[in-house]
Amino acid sequence: MIEGGHELSGQVRISGAKNSAVALLPASILADSQVTIEGLPNISDVETLSDLLEEIGGTVEWNDRTITVNPEKMVDMPLPNGKVKKLRASYYFMGAMLGKFKKAVIGLPGGCYLGPRPIDQHIKGFEALGAEVTNEQGAIYLRAKELRGARIYLDVVSVGATINIMLAAVRAKGKTIIENAAKEPEIIDVATLLTNMGAKIKGVGTDVIRIEGVESLHGCRHTIIPDRIEAGTYAIAAAAMGKEVVLDNVITRHIESLLAKLREMGVRLEEKDDQLLIAPRGPLKSVDIKTLVYPGFPTDLQQPFTSLLTKADSTGVITDTIYSARLKHIDELRRMNAMIKVEGGSIIVSGPVKLQGAKVKASDLRAGAALIVAGLMAEGVTEITGLEHIDRGYENIIEKLTNLGANVWREEMTPNEIKQFQNS
Ligand code: EPU
Repeated sequence: MIEGGHELSGQVRISGAKNSAVALLPASILADSQVTIEGLPNISDVETLSDLLEEIGGTVEWNDRTITVNPEKMVDMPLPNGKVKKLRASYYFMGAMLGKFKKAVIGLPGGCYLGPRPIDQHIKGFEALGAEVTNEQGAIYLRAKELRGARIYLDVVSVGATINIMLAAVRAKGKTIIENAAKEPEIIDVATLLTNMGAKIKGVGTDVIRIEGVESLHGCRHTIIPDRIEAGTYAIAAAAMGKEVVLDNVITRHIESLLAKLREMGVRLEEKDDQLLIAPRGPLKSVDIKTLVYPGFPTDLQQPFTSLLTKADSTGVITDTIYSARLKHIDELRRMNAMIKVEGGSIIVSGPVKLQGAKVKASDLRAGAALIVAGLMAEGVTEITGLEHIDRGYENIIEKLTNLGANVWREEMTPNEIKQFQNS
């Protein structure tokens, strides 16, 4: 529940990056001894993956936001169902288990529905490394006598495929070259962990990654990077409702594409070390955005940015070139009075509009973030259901927003309301 209209001010600390965390945890499988990862976000995706590591025989110890995974007793147990379906990133168990055990059985991943999300490039990579890959009753079976380095050209630039191939290739024989690789900061973070474990990787952060396979990998200690999408979400909320909001623990370079747009809209930004001040002044100017692979504007911020544009002074056009069907927030924002059209693959937002509180449903993680931003801006109370999506990726969002001055709280649904919600 959000009572909108309250100005935001103060400081918010950004947590560790979800999309790094969900790859770093499976990567720990590849080591032969303990891997410690510091600064993990306290979100349900991390919990699910840590349960999966235990399911295959790992021991996982938590100490605040630091996790220590002991992979010594892990086995190549099939993971066809259950928790695997809760999130997309369970597909990293494919690359990591293939790298370690030369075989894996993993259920097809779940996660947010953003339109079709094929994994053909992951499979192309595994096959190039020498694995036989079959899809049997909704689970992917991967088997290899041995993995051999290969030259792999990705037909689409994919974060998941780049990381997954890297995970398998670090323990393959010989040299792997990934061409047209993705360059997201999370990929660099995973490569840093693998390098600390003894892997030989060059070129991460460029579109050609070279990996020299090694026999074994050892444990290490690693600190995760801050979450650029969480930072971007708070920056958008601050642009919408902020007086002066400071983000703490942020790598501003990672969200430069967003900051450029906020500046264009007339928002004052000041960067200092790992902090960013966001102070909107006067009415926001409308802008157009096109989502692109990193360092372009991230698709994960497209949805919250749509909410912000409803406040801007005229029409803004958003084109999501990564997930053109990532539109589940639009109808919900319309319920809140937003004037949004979807035309020719673009989202056209007419502003300025005063949003009104309404009952809305978060049907995926970033749609949830969009509705929270909208709720903060709206007149009256907004009721958002589907919080389990938001809890997958935003640590303590209620507390963080409350500290900034928002009036936001969580209410349990009655069994009747849950039934109605499930049928809606
Ligand atoms: N694609 C293919 N074939 C593949 C893989 C991808 O056609 O084998 C296409 C996808 O359909 C999409 C594009 O390539 O059009 C990019 O997809 P990518 O593989 O990069 O996405 P992903 O790895 O599945 C990660 C993030 C997403 C984020 C995208 C794009 C994780 C766990 N997920 O997904 O994050 O939207 O990259 O940046 O890292 C989120 O955090 O809310 C989220 C959905």
